[in-house]
Amino acid sequence: MKLLTPGPVQLPREVLEAVARQPLFHRSVEFREVLGRVVEKLRMVYDYNSTPVIAPGTGTLAVDIAVYNYVDPGDRVLVVVNGVFGERLAESVESRGGVVYKLNLDHVEPDVVEDYARRIGDVKVVAVVHNETSMGVANRFVEKLQGVAESLGAILIVDSVSGIPAEPIRGRVDVIATASHKAFLAPPGASILYVSVEPKVKTKVPPSMDLRRLVKGSTTLNPPYTPPINVVYGLDVSLDMILKLGVDGYHEVHRLRAQTLYSSLKLESVAREPYRSYTVTAFWAPNPDLIVRELRKHGYIIARGMGVYEDKMIRVGVLGDVSIDDLRRVVEVVNNFVD
Ligand SMILES: Cc1ncc(COP(=O)(O)O)c(C=O)c1O
Repeated sequence: MKLLTPGPVQLPREVLEAVARQPLFHRSVEFREVLGRVVEKLRMVYDYNSTPVIAPGTGTLAVDIAVYNYVDPGDRVLVVVNGVFGERLAESVESRGGVVYKLNLDHVEPDVVEDYARRIGDVKVVAVVHNETSMGVANRFVEKLQGVAESLGAILIVDSVSGIPAEPIRGRVDVIATASHKAFLAPPGASILYVSVEPKVKTKVPPSMDLRRLVKGSTTLNPPYTPPINVVYGLDVSLDMILKLGVDGYHEVHRLRAQTLYSSLKLESVAREPYRSYTVTAFWAPNPDLIVRELRKHGYIIARGMGVYEDKMIRVGVLGDVSIDDLRRVVEVVNNFVD
C-alpha cells in the first residue's frame, strides 16, 4: 500500500532507517550535534533570517503555538478562511480569547485583506493558511501579506503545514507554523515553526507552548523539554534529500507530479489556476467512496474531501516517495472508473 494522502506521507526507506534507532539523551553533546545540523538545514530551506524551532507535536499544535504567542485575549485578528484549516485557525484564535474577523475568500488577495483590515481597525494579527489542504488550494505568494501586515502594524501568522518547502514561501513572514510529516518527508511528531519576531503576548502561555523558551532552546541547542528525538533523526536525512534538489528543484518535482493529475484526470479540479496546489490535489467526484475503495485494490490510499465536501471530493497527495508512474496508474484507474 502506498500513501497518496495529504499526510502522513510515504517515507523514503532511508528516512525510515534513520528513525529506527535508540534515541540519544537529548542533553548529550552527541544529540546537540544532530539537532544543530537539523536546525541549520531547516534554515537552509527557508532562509529569511528566522529561527527554526522544533517542538514535540502536530501541525495543529504548531498553529496553536503561533496563535497563543502573538494573540492576547481581546486582540482583533483577521483570519482568511478558504477551507477547513482556515476555520481551525479561527477556532484556535477564539480559544485564546481573540476577536476573530473572518474573511472568506477562494484564495488570498492582499488588497482585499488590507481593505477589510482597515475597515475593522486596530487589527493585531493577520492569520492565513498557505496551502489549504481541504480544498487543494495554494495561496502562493502568501509572503505578499507581510507588507500588508506591516503597514497595519500587525503580525502575520501563516499555517503552512502542508506547504513549505514543496510549496515554498519566498519572503520573510513573521511566523510560519508547519510540521514534520508532510512536505518535510519525515514521520509525524514534530511541530516546526519559523519565527522572526519575538512573541509579544502579555498573558501567560502554557509551558509546552511557550515560544520564548522554545526559541531559546533552538538557538542554544538546549531544548526546554524532550524533543521528538527520532523524528529529528528522520529530518536529518529527509532535509538532505530536499536540499540536494534545492527548494526550486523540490518545488518543480511536486509541480510535475501534480500536473500529471491535473492534466489527465477526467475530473474537475476544485482549485483554479494559478491556485492549484502542487502538494495536495483536490477534484470534484460524484462517488469518492467508491474511487477510494477502487484505488485501494490497486495499492493506493487517497483521501476523500473534508467537512461538508467529504462525499463530494477526492484528494490525492503527491508528497513523499511517489513517482510519476504511480500517478499515471492512479489516473488510469480513476479514469476507467469514472468513464
Ligand atoms: C493546512 C493544515 N493545517 C493544519 C493541519 C493539522 O495538522 P495535524 O493533523 O498534524 O495536526 C493540517 C493537516 O492536514 C493542514 O493540512
